[in-house]
Amino acid sequence: MTELVRVSNLRKDFGKITAVKSISFKINTGEIYGFLGPNGAGKTTTMRMITGVLVPTSGKVEICDLDLEAHPIKVKSQIGVVPDEPKLYENMTGQEFLEFVGSIFSMEKVEMMHMISELCDAFEINFLEKFIGDYSHGMKQKLVLTSVLMRKPKVIFLDEATVGLDAKSAKILKMLLRKYADEGSAIFMTTHVLEIAEKMCDRIGIINAGNIIAEGTLTELRSESGKQSLEDIFLNLTGSNEEDVKEIIENL
Ligand SMILES: Nc1ncnc2c1ncn2[C@@H]1O[C@H](COP(=O)(O)OP(=O)(O)OP(=O)(O)O)[C@@H](O)[C@H]1O
Ligand SMILES: [Mg+2]
Repeated sequence: MTELVRVSNLRKDFGKITAVKSISFKINTGEIYGFLGPNGAGKTTTMRMITGVLVPTSGKVEICDLDLEAHPIKVKSQIGVVPDEPKLYENMTGQEFLEFVGSIFSMEKVEMMHMISELCDAFEINFLEKFIGDYSHGMKQKLVLTSVLMRKPKVIFLDEATVGLDAKSAKILKMLLRKYADEGSAIFMTTHVLEIAEKMCDRIGIINAGNIIAEGTLTELRSESGKQSLEDIFLNLTGSNEEDVKEIIENL
């Protein structure tokens, strides 16, 4: 099995706040890795460091056997990133944006047009002639997903990518990610939707207060915690449980 992502002892300090303490994990080819954790746990900060948007305080990131610090451009040509809040050129049309991305990554024109057409059919995108500034949140999300998926990157990073997608588009995204993984890509995805993690992810890392506190397949997490549902495993590990939640509701 080939390790496409290797993250070692990654740390990020923002002044006195340590957002990520010491994170290490690996993702193999063919694998979908789910990254779960409460709000503020450090998921987005971790993903921003791994994708070269944020410089780590310390630690090492290797993608496709390339050190990110030494080879940032080469690494970026191998990855696709769907951030939680994509920054898009509002005064471009969707079509212009996709062709712009395709040209940056030196995509062959015929292949690019074929992929755009297939993905537009899949996500029911019929608004590429409109300016991005006039898109809804879900429309922007579909455009960013298309710009990443059309390239078939070796490693795909997604930060809460199903937020804002309608049910059919979310289902198609899940199926496409499985297909890309089966074809040899590695997928890293954060999500708060435990059902998605449960159904889609081959391995799950649970992060709390900047550290990975549990990692494994769902079966491994179940046998370690003695709990069946990912919701119970998650709540238990992150310091709350069914009884705490019930008490909070009763007190409201
Ligand atoms: N640029 C920044 N400057 C200062 N603190 C930051 C910055 N970015 C993130 N943080 C802090 O780092 C911590 C982790 O934030 P992060 O966005 O990584 O959490 P998250 O796990 O993605 O949360 P969520 O589930 O809400 O998206 C938080 O305490 C946050 O306030
Ligand atoms: Mg986040």
